[in-house]
Amino acid sequence: MKLSFDKGFFAPLPVLILGTYDENGMPNAMNAAWGGQVGMTQISISLSSSHKTTNNIKLNKEFTVAYATAEQIAACDYVGIVSGNNIDNKIEKCGFTITKSDKINAPIINQLPIAIECKVIEIQEEFNETRIVAEVVGLKVDEEVMTDGKVDYTKAGLVIYDTVTKCYRTVGKSIAAARSVGKKFDNN
Ligand SMILES: Cc1cc2nc3c(=O)[nH]c(=O)nc-3n(C[C@H](O)[C@H](O)[C@H](O)COP(=O)(O)O)c2cc1C
Repeated sequence: MKLSFDKGFFAPLPVLILGTYDENGMPNAMNAAWGGQVGMTQISISLSSSHKTTNNIKLNKEFTVAYATAEQIAACDYVGIVSGNNIDNKIEKCGFTITKSDKINAPIINQLPIAIECKVIEIQEEFNETRIVAEVVGLKVDEEVMTDGKVDYTKAGLVIYDTVTKCYRTVGKSIAAARSVGKKFDNN
């Protein structure tokens, strides 16, 4: 029997590390779980309006999204605990170094193997939340996490956020080919 609750949760959530610059060129990073792909080439992220990242995105209209990894999980968590509004060297403090993107005005974190480069196309303000819709304009991937010319989730050590137990989990092994394993029921 299924139990019924008044509220729900959405799972699994990604662990996205947003990279931005402020008005003085100071790099910042924050951890965001409320984000995902919308359509073929866009993403949407929901941010508290008080975050430094939110102000930086409104200023530059450009940002990077790196995927957190198991290897860097402490640093990825740290940038979700402290705010660049209160500390100047947030990135440096957790051991991250950055390279400026060649496509947009946003930092790429060297220690995280995959980053997408995004340009804002819409900003919605509601209560104390800022919802960003952005176009993905580029992708940077470390050669070491590629297999046969494709991004390899296992090599990259990607993680997800578990909202129920409030922990990070690794992404598991491949279990079936998509748009393929279900074909066994398509026998009309
Ligand atoms: C696992 C995790 C997920 C988070 N997801 C979000 C999110 O989706 N949106 C948001 O506004 N804040 C989120 N936060 C909180 C921010 O990362 C945090 O407040 C951070 O200090 C903001 O940094 P900034 O002010 O330097 O931008 C999350 C934090 C953690 C640890």
